[in-house]
Amino acid sequence: MDIRRIGVIGAGQMGNGIAHVFALAGFDVLVNDVSQDALDRTPSIIAKNLDRQVSRGRITAEEQAQALARITTTTDIAAIGETDLIVESATEREEIKKKIFSSLADHLAPHTLLTTNTSSISITRLAADTDRPERFMGFHFMNPVPVMQLVELIRGIATSAETYSTLHEVVKTLGKTAASSEDYPAFIVNRILIPMINEAVYALYEGVGSVSAIDTSMKLGANHPMGPLELADFIGLDTCLAIMNVLHEGLADTKYRPCPLLTKYVEAGWLGRKTKRGFYDYRGDGDPVPTR
Ligand code: CAA
Repeated sequence: MDIRRIGVIGAGQMGNGIAHVFALAGFDVLVNDVSQDALDRTPSIIAKNLDRQVSRGRITAEEQAQALARITTTTDIAAIGETDLIVESATEREEIKKKIFSSLADHLAPHTLLTTNTSSISITRLAADTDRPERFMGFHFMNPVPVMQLVELIRGIATSAETYSTLHEVVKTLGKTAASSEDYPAFIVNRILIPMINEAVYALYEGVGSVSAIDTSMKLGANHPMGPLELADFIGLDTCLAIMNVLHEGLADTKYRPCPLLTKYVEAGWLGRKTKRGFYDYRGDGDPVPTR
C-alpha cells in the first residue's frame, strides 16, 4: 500500500515528534488538535528540534526547510480522514481516544490505516469501536521521537497481515527499528520501564534514598542515560500513573499498585517538565532542583 500523507492527531510532545520524523522522511504531514494554540506552537517546536539535528551535522539546513514545508496543521478532524495513515497521539485517556475515533468515523477514506500511539491501552478494545479493526494497529513511538530508535508495533486481535507489513515498511522508511508486541497491558517497553519508575518512587516514599541519590544510583550504577525520577518527569507523571493503573487493572496483580507518592504529585498538578515541577523543580534558571 502506498503511504504518502500522514495525519497526526494531537500536537503534544509525542505528536510533534511523530510529525517531525515523518516529515523528515519525506511524508506530507497534517497535524490536528482541538487547540489552535497548540497547533500554532507546532512549527516552532519542530523547527527547534530540527535545529539540534542541523547543528550536530545530522541533517542539512535544506533538509530542515523541506521537512518544515511538508507540515501543515488543522483543527478540522474531517481533513485528517483523507490521509493514508493516521497516528492518533492524543492524551493517554481511553474515553478521549474513543471520542476522537468516533468523530473521525464519518470522514475516513476507505483505504486509510488507523493507528494509535497509545502507550498502554488495549488495541483490540480501541479497534472494536471503529469500522476497520483489520486496518487498525498500535504504533508506539518513544520520547524523544527524533532520537529514539524503537517503534513498537502492536496487533489487535483483528489486525490484518497487510496492515502489519505496511506499517513495518513505514518504520523502516523512517530509519527506525520495529519490535512486535502482543496486545497486553502496556505492551513491552512500558510493562518493564514504568514499574521500574514506580519502584523508584516507592524507594523515595519509603526514604530509601533522596531524589538525587536514586537518580545518581541508576545513572552511574546501571548506566541509564537518565535516572528513573528524571525520566518520570520527562515522560510526564500523569502518563506514568495512567500506565501503572492500566497494568494494575489489566493484570489484577498488586505488584503493579501505583505508589501513593506518585498519585500525590499528580494530584498536585506537579506533572514533571511540562508543568515545570515534578520530582525536580524546573522553574529557575539553573539546574533543576530536587523537590524531595
Ligand atoms: N529532537 C531532536 N534531537 C534531540 C532531541 C529532540 N527532541 N532531544 C535530544 N536530541 C538529540 C541531541 O541533539 C543529541 O544529538 P547527537 O547525538 O547528534 O549529538 C542527542 O539527542 C543527545 O542529546 P543531548 O546531548 O542533548 O542530551 P543527552 O545526551 O542527555 O540525551 C536523551 C538526551 C536522548 C533524552 C537521553 O537522556 C535519553 O536517552 N534518555 C532516556 C530516554 C528514554 O528512556 N525514553 C523513553 C521514554 S519511555 C517512552 O517514551 C514510552 C512511553 O510510552 C512512556
